[in-house]
Amino acid sequence: MQEIKAKIEAATSLDEIEKIRLELFGKKGVITELFAQLKSVSAEQKKEFAKEANQKRDIFSELIGAKKSALEAIAQKEAMKKEAIDVTLFNENVASGALHPVMETMDKIIDYFVSQNFSVESGPLIEDDFHNFEALNLPKYHPARDMQDTFYLNSGELLRTHTSGVQIRTMEKFKTPPVRMIAPGAVFRRDMDLTHTPMFHQVEGLVVEKGANVSFANLKYILEDFLHYMFGDVKVRFRPSFFPFTEPSTEVDISCIFCGGSGCRVCKQTGWLEVLGSGVVDPNVFKAVKWSDVSGYAFGLGVERFAMLLHRIPDLRSLFEGDIRLLEQFK
Ligand code: PHE
Repeated sequence: MQEIKAKIEAATSLDEIEKIRLELFGKKGVITELFAQLKSVSAEQKKEFAKEANQKRDIFSELIGAKKSALEAIAQKEAMKKEAIDVTLFNENVASGALHPVMETMDKIIDYFVSQNFSVESGPLIEDDFHNFEALNLPKYHPARDMQDTFYLNSGELLRTHTSGVQIRTMEKFKTPPVRMIAPGAVFRRDMDLTHTPMFHQVEGLVVEKGANVSFANLKYILEDFLHYMFGDVKVRFRPSFFPFTEPSTEVDISCIFCGGSGCRVCKQTGWLEVLGSGVVDPNVFKAVKWSDVSGYAFGLGVERFAMLLHRIPDLRSLFEGDIRLLEQFK
């Protein structure tokens, strides 16, 4: 019996305890046998024998019960340990979001101009004829209006075709120079091909000061510095062009960032990429807001075009398809 006690104490698993329980209380168990022997015990010994048998049964069932509970508690503790989740652990498999390449490019452009003391202005997406065209020296029926295929609303208003209307709105708001602003935002045109979508983004720029203080030289300096900030060590070229609201007007090119200027498919063998429209503000624009004795320059750029060049994306339309496989490359 001492031996069985020691066995119970030393048991380390529920299986072991069950085995010992069967050895004692099973069909041929030690205790079961004791009670079986009771029949053949003489009458005078019976009482004593039964008492002992009962004691043994009670002691062992208590010992086994206690050990079983102890082992069960340990097993439960271990199971809980195994199933525990550390909520503070970093999970590398969780996908994180990122800015869309167009917004990321826009932020980079805005960062530059804010660093040069430009304020950030905005205007409505549904614009009136005066701010989108008329005040920008684009009178009704002027052929230059055809440069932009326009979405008109029944009200006579339109989805703005460019951010240049914010030039007018900002001068109206400021009432007097100086103005040193950019206007980022969405614009709309009836276009759809490899390099055009019906909605895209521009960043407009306008600088106005009293007197004749602002010249083409100021425009040239800031745009060259800006393009070096965006594209690194590129050549910058100012090419004569036409916009109704600037005079003189220039289109700005950078040396091709794909071939370094030697000529390739992207730059159509010219070695140059067109990236900006700009010029000295036309006096008729100032007349429209009744400002006199002022001078200024303005510029406008397409954000998608910049994003395409920076990320080497061949089809502008893919920026708006929302295909995760494309977007994930720019995280
Ligand atoms: N608004 C012109 C366009 O959309 C760009 C531009 C802005 C040109 C300002 C000159 C000055 O093409």
